[in-house]
Amino acid sequence: MDSFTDDAEFITCDSPVNIALIKYWGKRDEKLILPLNSSISVTLSQDELRARTTVAVSRNFKEDKMWLNGREQSMKNARLQSVISNIKRLCRKRKSDNDQVNDKLQWKLHICSENNFPTAAGLASSAAGYACLVYALSKLYGVDGDLSKIARMGSGSACRSIYGGFVIWNKGEAEGGEDSKAEQIVSETHWPDLRVLILVVSDQTKHTGSTVGMQTSVETSQLLQQRLQGVPKQLEKIKCAIQNKDFHSFAEITMRDSNQLHAVCMDTYPPVSYLTDISHHIIQLVHAINQDNNSNMVAYSFDAGPNAFLFLQEKDVPTVIDILHYFYPSSDPNFIRGLQVPAKRDVHVDYT
Ligand code: DP6
Repeated sequence: MDSFTDDAEFITCDSPVNIALIKYWGKRDEKLILPLNSSISVTLSQDELRARTTVAVSRNFKEDKMWLNGREQSMKNARLQSVISNIKRLCRKRKSDNDQVNDKLQWKLHICSENNFPTAAGLASSAAGYACLVYALSKLYGVDGDLSKIARMGSGSACRSIYGGFVIWNKGEAEGGEDSKAEQIVSETHWPDLRVLILVVSDQTKHTGSTVGMQTSVETSQLLQQRLQGVPKQLEKIKCAIQNKDFHSFAEITMRDSNQLHAVCMDTYPPVSYLTDISHHIIQLVHAINQDNNSNMVAYSFDAGPNAFLFLQEKDVPTVIDILHYFYPSSDPNFIRGLQVPAKRDVHVDYT
């Protein structure tokens, strides 16, 4: 970034990732990012995985600029532009008589974002990144209100990272996407002994991003059409399991949905394969643990990548970690990243 002068104003925010339990896969509108189905996620704590974004404006900046993990990015990105213009529009709507704010809206913008975890490796980095950018911009321009619709314009799953706890993204019906937004189902205090372990199987960038993967599925997969018919029932079932803190059902619904997503990916033509041999081994191991236990002790979920999110209850964490160490003895020390879930949307904001 250019060095700051007295005229520069900047703000730094952190944002959490969220992991979908009932996944979003497929859009009905690519530009507005309107999904074909509603989805439900849980927001994770920011201790291990978070995006951090600094946004700055100054009358001395010559042009808009952006850096991601230290590397300059092009500003010619339709989603980025859509997020920035939507935040500015909201700001203009509310503060049209405030000259100071109006000045700020004219100044060039610098954005600097970094993740403390592998980017684009199926660990929901775009969700955290866009949620963070929208939040930071809203603070910079002094805008409040429902930010989830704007985060959605950056990356669909980002709209769920605006809230903590368990969150639903209602697909909405309106053509313009006015009702396609996220809302909290229950807060982070509802199920405090739920935990997630993230198994980082690979930190490599995925070969097919979610955007392209789901677009190809919409065009070619019949199984996706069938999945869409079943999703509303699964959403109701998991909401019920969450309300009742029924881990056994929660685990089964979560695993079935993850499996269905990856079955749809394989039904896509040409197929998109996100899971590796290690991912498949983890799936088998989880089922073996659950079978031995005569009830579900642990559940897996995989996004568009090989890395596993394992859900379990606090009391079972030592047992499951012992089993993982036994089966993956020489793995990288970062292989298992422990987290507490669900987490509050623990926003940390630094003002100048
Ligand atoms: C498998 O939100 O990354 O993680 O809206 O095109 O940016 P775009 O896609 P993105 O897709 C996420 C897919 C998923 C499932 C989910 O998070 O619901």
